[in-house]
Amino acid sequence: MKPKTFDVWVVIFLCLLPNWKFEAEAKNNFEMQTDNFTCSSEDVNSRILKEFRCGISKSAKRRTWHMEFMLKQPVAEHEFFMKIVLPRKSPLKDFVLLNVTTDGCQLLANRNQVPLMRLGRNVMERFSNFPKQCPFKSKTTYYIRGFRLDLNLLPAVDMETPVHTELSYRSKHHGLTWISGFLEARVQRLNEKKRPK
Ligand SMILES: *[C@@H]1O[C@H](CO)[C@@H](O)[C@H](O)[C@H]1NC(C)=O
Ligand SMILES: *[C@@H]1O[C@H](CO)[C@@H](O)[C@H](O)[C@H]1NC(C)=O
Repeated sequence: MKPKTFDVWVVIFLCLLPNWKFEAEAKNNFEMQTDNFTCSSEDVNSRILKEFRCGISKSAKRRTWHMEFMLKQPVAEHEFFMKIVLPRKSPLKDFVLLNVTTDGCQLLANRNQVPLMRLGRNVMERFSNFPKQCPFKSKTTYYIRGFRLDLNLLPAVDMETPVHTELSYRSKHHGLTWISGFLEARVQRLNEKKRPK
């Protein structure tokens, strides 16, 4: 190699190295910590909902959230709503990352067009027994359990921030949101000791 060519390679290498390192680290330096998960229902007279339960696991270290519900009658056509907001201190406006209402049956079958929703449905596969197609049957306990978002699945996250997520299921036929869940979480920096190898 001529000295000049070698120099060029060294320069290219030195320029690429910091970027590459940043990319690799950005994903692993953060984790999502769940603080709270609660839910509510509009179905106060129990027209379609038999029971529901939501909460978080007790272990503070790797806390997960869960949601369970049982319906009195099957629900086919429904809407799924999801909103992800990064709250910010005033006077800044909260940052709305996602705010969509979408066809629930399409989502169950993973035919949704929004990539983030498709990703979410895929991740959910591991944590829930939701049907792969409509309807939600009656007298079946549907659950999402042990859900913990692995930030490695997302594009690089590089800030610490609170994250508020709301999700809900609404029967079109009954015009009723049978369950809504509210998740409070934080993206936080992993401390050196906890960082996975
Ligand atoms: C969780 O949220 C509920 C409802 O907003 C609230 O009553 C409760 O105090 C919260 N718990 C924690 C630990 O923040
Ligand atoms: C979310 O979208 C709905 C309907 O498009 C809109 O009415 C609502 O204001 C939006 N919410 C936020 C927080 O942007």
